[in-house]
Amino acid sequence: MKIEKKAVIFDLDGVICFTDKYHYEAWKALADRLGIYFDEKINDRLRGVSRMASLEIILERATKEYTQTEKETFTAEKNDIYRELLKKMTPADLSDEVKDTLVELRRRGYKLSIGSSSKNTKFILKQIGLDGFFDVIADGTDITHSKPDPEVFLISAQKIGIDPVDCVVVEDATAGIKAAKAGGMTALALFGDAKDCGLEDYNLTSFSDLLNVLP
Ligand code: BG6
Ligand code: MG
Repeated sequence: MKIEKKAVIFDLDGVICFTDKYHYEAWKALADRLGIYFDEKINDRLRGVSRMASLEIILERATKEYTQTEKETFTAEKNDIYRELLKKMTPADLSDEVKDTLVELRRRGYKLSIGSSSKNTKFILKQIGLDGFFDVIADGTDITHSKPDPEVFLISAQKIGIDPVDCVVVEDATAGIKAAKAGGMTALALFGDAKDCGLEDYNLTSFSDLLNVLP
């Protein structure tokens, strides 16, 4: 399969780099402190979902109701733990496969951008040595509606100046595949629950498989 497009919008967490374990560790610390059961299977449901929506999923198992102010304190507490863990990331956390594929896509003339729900996007890109690499970034700080709403991808396409129909999105989350399709884009699934979710246009076998489908 060959896909004729002008821009590639990448999800960050779970596509460019793997922060799942840090998200899990930070949410687990919060859930344990609150006495709420949390495991890796529940963590999988947080993929692509905003910070507050993630907390709401964790609180499904809580035995009491919390106020909005308490919830904001909890997400801030989780984020402080998460940011400490992110400090461990270095350019060694960016694989050669991802790096070489990005460089080759740029050589082929594609505009490259990020469309992530994370408010920590710029910090993570800096940690892994991709600060300033992408043509544009749209992230959790730009949006009011998280994936599966298409907002983050539409902002990314708008910032890059390319029509949504000429964009492909690379995603590891079903919420992200839904967002890409809702935005009128071509959705490529890589890893995670995006793969074989039934809504994707194509399943990538690996990150570098992008070089087979994008001429
Ligand atoms: C997404 C992750 O990229 O960002 C989610 O897949 C996360 O798990 C969301 O909840 C928001 O991230 P952050 O860094 O703003 O808490
Ligand atoms: Mg993701």
